Amino acid sequence: MESIKMLIEKFKDGSIKEMWEEIKWMFSYGKNYKKEIVFYTILGVFSTVMSLISSVASKELINIVTGIQTNRALEMAVLMVSMSLFSLLFNQAMSRITLKINIRIQNEIQADIFDKIIEVNWLDLSRYHGGDLLNRFSSDVGTVANSAIGWVPNLIINFFSFIATLCLILYYDPTMLFLTLANMPIMLLSSKVMMSRLRKYDMKVKEMNSEMMAFETETFSNIDSIKSFSLVHLFSDRLKGFQKRFKDVSLEYNWFSIKYNTIISLLGMVVSFSFYGWAVYRLWSGAINYGEMTLFLQQSGRLSSTFSALVSIIPSTISATISAKRLMEIIFLPKEPLDIKTSEYLDRIQDKGFSLELEDVYFSYIQNKNVLVSSDLKANPGEIVALVGPSGEGKTTMIRLFLGLITPNQGNAYLIDYQGKKYHLDASTRSLFAYVPQGNTIFSGTIAENLRMVKEDASDEEIIKALKSACAYEFVSRLEGGINAKIGARGQGLSEGQCQRIAIARALLREAPILLLDEATSALDVSTERKVLNNIMINHPNKTCIVTTHRPSVLNMCQRVYRVMDTKLTVLSEEESAKMAMDF
Ligand SMILES: Nc1ncnc2c1ncn2[C@@H]1O[C@H](COP(=O)(O)OP(=O)(O)O)[C@@H](O)[C@H]1O
Ligand SMILES: [Mg+2]
Repeated sequence: MESIKMLIEKFKDGSIKEMWEEIKWMFSYGKNYKKEIVFYTILGVFSTVMSLISSVASKELINIVTGIQTNRALEMAVLMVSMSLFSLLFNQAMSRITLKINIRIQNEIQADIFDKIIEVNWLDLSRYHGGDLLNRFSSDVGTVANSAIGWVPNLIINFFSFIATLCLILYYDPTMLFLTLANMPIMLLSSKVMMSRLRKYDMKVKEMNSEMMAFETETFSNIDSIKSFSLVHLFSDRLKGFQKRFKDVSLEYNWFSIKYNTIISLLGMVVSFSFYGWAVYRLWSGAINYGEMTLFLQQSGRLSSTFSALVSIIPSTISATISAKRLMEIIFLPKEPLDIKTSEYLDRIQDKGFSLELEDVYFSYIQNKNVLVSSDLKANPGEIVALVGPSGEGKTTMIRLFLGLITPNQGNAYLIDYQGKKYHLDASTRSLFAYVPQGNTIFSGTIAENLRMVKEDASDEEIIKALKSACAYEFVSRLEGGINAKIGARGQGLSEGQCQRIAIARALLREAPILLLDEATSALDVSTERKVLNNIMINHPNKTCIVTTHRPSVLNMCQRVYRVMDTKLTVLSEEESAKMAMDF
C-alpha cells in the first residue's frame, strides 16, 4: 500500500505534471486537425483489423490443407490476400495524411512562435542567444509538429492492435490469459523508471545543439575578424571542443538508449517466446490444431512488435515534450503591454508632432547597477537633441527607453502629443518612431527592397527622395541597377558609411514623427553628416530628432546637447558643448 502511495506521489510531482502541461500545449495545435486525426486513427484501426482477418484466413487455409476442414479453400485464399492488400493500401494512405498534417501543423506553430517572439518583452528575450533561438525555432518546432499528430493516434492504433491481437489469441485459447497477466506488470513498470533519465538526456542534447548553433552563427557572421586576427586555429579548436562535447553527450545518451532498448526488447522476447512455447506445448498435447498454431505464431510476433512500438512512443514523446518545454519557455516570457486603441489614435495624429520627456528616470539592467539615475530630458518637434558621452555610459539605453523596449525602474518616460497629453512609452507608442540602430542593419536584397521594408507601397520617386535626403542617392545612382542594385547580407558590397546612409534613408521613408539615430552617422565624413542632418530638418520640419554622436562638429546644429556620464544626464550650455567638442 505504501509503495503504491509513493508511486502516485511520484506521478503527481515534477516531471509528470510538467510533461502533462507540455503535452496539453502541443495538442492545442492538433486541435484544428481533429477530423484528419480521427480519420487517420480509423484508418490505422482498420488496417489492424484487416491484417488480423488475414491471419485468421491463413489459419483456416492451413486447416483446410491439413484436412481438418475441406470446404472454402479458395474463399479463404482470396480473403487472406485481399485483406493484406487493403492493409497495405491503408498504411500508405496514412503516411500521406501524416505528412500533410505534419507540414500544416509545423507551419502553424512556426508562424505562431515567430509572432510571439516579436511580442515578447525585449529585455527578457535579449538574454537568449540568436543561435539558440534559431535552433529552437527550427528543430524544436519540427519535433513538436511531428508529435502533435503522431503521438495520440499511434498510441491508440498500437494499443488497439495490442488488445485486438490479445483478444484474438484468447478467443482461440483462453489459457493464454495467465501468460498475459503475468507479463503486463513488467511492461508497465519498465517505462516509468526510465522516464526522468530520458528527459534529462534529451534536454542535454538539445541544449548542446543550441550552443553549437550559437557558435556557428556567430563564427560565420564574424569571418572578417577571425581572418584578420588569424583566429582560424582558435575557432577551429573551439569547434572541435564543441564537437567533442557533443560526441560525449550523444554517446552517453546512446549508451543509455541501448540499455533501455535491450531491456525492452528482452521483455518483448519473453512475451513472444512464452506465447510460442505455450502454443507448442498445446499443439503437442493436442489442445489446438496446426491452423491455430500458425495463428499463435504470427500473433505472438505481432504482440511483441506492437509492444515495442508502444514502448518506443515513450522516448519520442519525451523528446517532443522537451522540445515543447524549450518553446514554451520563449513563448511564455512576459509580453509587452500593447494598447491598440492608443496606438491607432496616435497614428492618426502623427502629423502634429510629438515631444519626448524623461522625468526623474532611474534604470538598471542588473540590480544595483544603475545605468541612469534621476535623469530628465525633453525633446520637442522641430528639434535635434544630441546625446553625447563616452562609450558604455547609457546612450543606447536611453534610445531603448524612448522605443519602449525597456521601461524605467523609477520615474517616467513619456510621449507628449500636441495637446499636452502624456503617454507612457511602450509598445503602443513604438510605431511613431523611425530608428537607425548602431551597427549594420541592411538585409540582403536590392536597395529598393531594403527601403520598402518600412513602407511596402513606396514609389520609386519616394525612395529616391529618401535616398537624396540621406545623401545616398549620389552613390546609389552610380551602382549598376541604381535603386534595384543587389546587395549581400549585412550590406556586403557597400562601405559602412554607405550602409549607414541607406539605413537613414529607410528611416526617413517611414515618415515617422520621431527619428532616433544611434551613432548612425559615425562612419560619415563631417560634411556629409552635417548635410544629412540639415536635409532632415529642412524636409521634415516637424520631426523630433534624437541623435547620439561622437562628432563635435554637429553639436552646434542641435537645439540641446545632453551629456550621459556616470549615470547622470546633464544639459550642456553652449560653452560647455563647445568645450566638449574639443574634448572628443
Ligand atoms: N542588455 C543589457 N544587459 C545588461 N547590461 C547592459 C545591456 N545593454 C547595455 N548594458 C550596460 O549598460 C551600460 C550602457 O550601455 P549603452 O547604453 O549601450 O552605452 P552607450 O550606448 O552609451 O555606449 C553599459 O555599461 C552596458 O554594459
Ligand atoms: Mg551605444
